[in-house]
Amino acid sequence: MLVLDFGSQYAQLIARRVREQNVYCEIVRHDITADRLRERSPKGIILSGGPASVYDQGAPKCDPGIFRLGIPVLGICYGMQLACEALGGQVKQAKSREYGRARCRITSHADLFAGIPDETDVWMSHGDQVSSVSADFLPLAKTDTCPLAAVKHVSAPIYGLQFHPEVTHTPLGTHVLRNFLIDICGCEGSWKLGDFAKETIENVRRRVGKNRVICGLSGGVDSSVTAALLYRAIGSQLSCILVDNGLLREDEEQAVIAEFTKHFKTDLHVVSAEKRFLDALAGITDPQEKRRRIGHAFIDCFKEEAKNIKDAKFLAQGTLYPDVIESGAAADGPAATIKLHHNVGGLPAELGFELVEPLRDLFKDEVRRLGLELGLPDDIVWRHPFPGPGLAVRCLGEVTREKLATLRAADTIVVNEIKAAGLYRQTSQSFAVLLPVQSVGVMGDGRTYENTIAIRSVNTDDFMTADWSRLPYDLLAHMSTRIINEVKGVNRVCYDISSKPPATIEWE
Ligand code: XMP
Repeated sequence: MLVLDFGSQYAQLIARRVREQNVYCEIVRHDITADRLRERSPKGIILSGGPASVYDQGAPKCDPGIFRLGIPVLGICYGMQLACEALGGQVKQAKSREYGRARCRITSHADLFAGIPDETDVWMSHGDQVSSVSADFLPLAKTDTCPLAAVKHVSAPIYGLQFHPEVTHTPLGTHVLRNFLIDICGCEGSWKLGDFAKETIENVRRRVGKNRVICGLSGGVDSSVTAALLYRAIGSQLSCILVDNGLLREDEEQAVIAEFTKHFKTDLHVVSAEKRFLDALAGITDPQEKRRRIGHAFIDCFKEEAKNIKDAKFLAQGTLYPDVIESGAAADGPAATIKLHHNVGGLPAELGFELVEPLRDLFKDEVRRLGLELGLPDDIVWRHPFPGPGLAVRCLGEVTREKLATLRAADTIVVNEIKAAGLYRQTSQSFAVLLPVQSVGVMGDGRTYENTIAIRSVNTDDFMTADWSRLPYDLLAHMSTRIINEVKGVNRVCYDISSKPPATIEWE
């Protein structure tokens, strides 16, 4: 399947939902030509939603030739409006705008709505509606305020949905999508991650030949899965470099070393560079300057160590599909939008290696499943994401060895208590932050004037937006008591209840 991206926040979600049905799917630019689409010969095309109005000047359009290819098309929201307008219909701002949940009545239970009850909840998210269609379209469903909530072309396999089947607020959305994929497009639903792994391993072998590949390990899931996959493909031709920057979480370095020396038996080079990083950070308080210095120190360490690895020709990176899409680097991918963030740990091209990026077609959840298939332990596969600059951006103000020790001890308590409460997998990122704030307290008979720890725990699908986790009070109380009792130098704990936006997940 190919999803044409009209700027929807949900385009990636559509692609994921399609892959969840074991149908391979990619996102492409909205202005891909009909000829290029024919060459790619997808079984079906999905036009994503998008924030624009089709009648606005400069609104993103698709090549109308797409509707004459005979390939099934499903337009979602803006995509439906575009298809109907291109084929003789009209789109207007809805009189009564329908955002959010709506009750949808199905008037035709043929193909797209096969097996769907007469009434079902759906999720709407656009101020415009298709107000009239040409005689070539049949209505399939309506809501109280939207007479054309779903339509179908009479003679071509073209369908439109005003609502979003890909979001969980449309409970039967997956069923509708499946009807489109399997019954209308004729997809088999046989794409498997295991097959993907086999194919990728073969491709890497062919490409790399007898050469050596270097892979940077960070302790995170993406680099670990990349290394595990490469190890399967080329075994002893793989060398890994782990830069210990002194900014990792408790025991992180040891866990990675144990896994990649005992289990995978890779040629692992550990660069102990704590002093070098801390020297570079001495006296620095500006967050961006901290990031810059960490980035430079990382590249220098990596470069120096890479020189000790003879005959390396390739560099493996754990780039994922969302990074590829967001950087505009996919072959037919949508234009560059926003890059996720200032990524530290990216290596410059002058290093002179050819890049191998075996995960560049996968989403994060697929990478995790792949990691499990490749035999990585749960602890690595389900580890919460950790920023490249590490604890330095959670130790506000100047970073020192002592402050890092305090932060690490508090962070371990936060993470362990969340795990003990069975909430680690339900939260997306949970950690401690050491604030540059001292406050007065009383411990035993004496007054104290000590540090503050903030606990941050968020839930998110994509890390672009996030909400604070509603952790139980008793758990918060327990974490607070433990941190104040066990971590020397801390006498106050706060819980961060800000969402992103306007706050960010990290504090710096
Ligand atoms: P923010 O704080 O921007 O974080 O809401 C979003 C996600 O990105 C991670 N993050 C980083 N990752 N280098 C990284 O590799 C960085 O400089 C960086 N800053 C934030 C953060 O942990 C969260 O998962």
